[in-house]
Amino acid sequence: MYHSLTVVALTQETPDAVTIHLERPDRQPLACQPGQFLTLILPCGPGGKKERRAYSLSSTPHEAPRLSVTVKRVPGGLVSNYLLDTVRVGQEIEVMAPIGNFTLKPSPKAARSVVLVGAGSGITPLMSILKAVLKSEPQSYVLLVYGNRNEESVIFKEQLQQLEAGSNGRLQVEHVYSQPLRPTSGHQHTGRLNRTMLLRILEQRHQFPADQAEYYMCGPEGMMEEARAALDLLRVPAARIHRESFVASADTSEVAAAQPNGHGDVTTGAAAGAPATRSVTIQYEGSEYVLDVPPNKTILETALDQDIDLPYSCQAGLCTACRGKCLSGKVHLDEREGLSDSEMKQGYVLVCVGHPMTDDVVIEIG
Ligand SMILES: Cc1cc2nc3c(=O)[nH]c(=O)nc-3n(C[C@H](O)[C@H](O)[C@H](O)COP(=O)(O)OP(=O)(O)OC[C@H]3O[C@@H](n4cnc5c(N)ncnc54)[C@H](O)[C@@H]3O)c2cc1C
Ligand code: FES
Repeated sequence: MYHSLTVVALTQETPDAVTIHLERPDRQPLACQPGQFLTLILPCGPGGKKERRAYSLSSTPHEAPRLSVTVKRVPGGLVSNYLLDTVRVGQEIEVMAPIGNFTLKPSPKAARSVVLVGAGSGITPLMSILKAVLKSEPQSYVLLVYGNRNEESVIFKEQLQQLEAGSNGRLQVEHVYSQPLRPTSGHQHTGRLNRTMLLRILEQRHQFPADQAEYYMCGPEGMMEEARAALDLLRVPAARIHRESFVASADTSEVAAAQPNGHGDVTTGAAAGAPATRSVTIQYEGSEYVLDVPPNKTILETALDQDIDLPYSCQAGLCTACRGKCLSGKVHLDEREGLSDSEMKQGYVLVCVGHPMTDDVVIEIG
């Protein structure tokens, strides 16, 4: 699951975003789906400690063996600044194989409408999905509604122009600028990418009937909430809406994973008992590890302290790299963004944000 990839090219997309193109040294492809992410592992922590961060693929499987990620600088951020300031062609980067559920499976026979709503660096997985649909589904249409501060902060601006021009009307891009440098017109809009803006844009695009289209959104939490509100007003079924978060929301509402056997059902952290060090059994790759998890640590942190090499990436409950199934006991999650309701009901948990609430917790990972 771990690979060493070589940086084969770099593309400066905007002053604060770079695309890093990677390949295996033997040029063999790595399996991936449009919209998935790579985990980069970089020795940029204190004392050269390895840090992991998730970066969505902006490339698609048909660009194999090349995998590309696009990194935007986060002010004060450790890994994004390290990458933007030091990455160079020829460098080797350790990665975890692509994973993620924010995907679209292209099908050559499909004739569908796909609506992508993104802002800032949230364009990356949408770009992967967009290119895959254009390449593999000749009868499908894509609408991209893309919010940015101004014309100069648009990642993939020229690439999008070229794709749109060569798409025979199958790709439409609507830019929304909060502080445009020039007066906007046509497919450019001034304002925030909020529910009113999105409804106005969707109303005019008749190839995208609201209840039949599929929606993919990725961007800041506020934008995704607005987009969700617009889709609720249009009565779009939840099953047609997919979202990816790069940052944990400020809302730290507490959720507990239900046990698959039905005991205990869903409980909240507050009601689940006094904090205590509790025993957790982890089953992973044929081995069994017993951990004593203190109340101030997550299950993943405790495992890593003991040099148990569990899979993980974002450490924030977003990406599902650390997903496991709770076979017994109760687990409290600080964040559940990465899990669907159905996964929660089946007893899936994220150990990076998980705390045992009983002494009989057994989690199977992988
Ligand atoms: C599934 C997934 C896919 C992702 N894909 C991409 C991608 O394609 N391109 C990309 O640039 N990033 C992407 N990210 C975000 C990326 O993993 C890092 O979180 C980001 O680069 C910041 O890392 P850092 O080490 O620079 O900042 P840190 O040192 O980890 O954080 C510094 C501060 O910035 C905040 N912060 C972190 N990320 C953001 C953000 N995006 N916007 C605003 N504030 C932030 C943190 O909450 C923290 O307070 C993705 C994240 C996930 C979970
Ligand atoms: S490491 Fe990303 S959800 Fe746990």
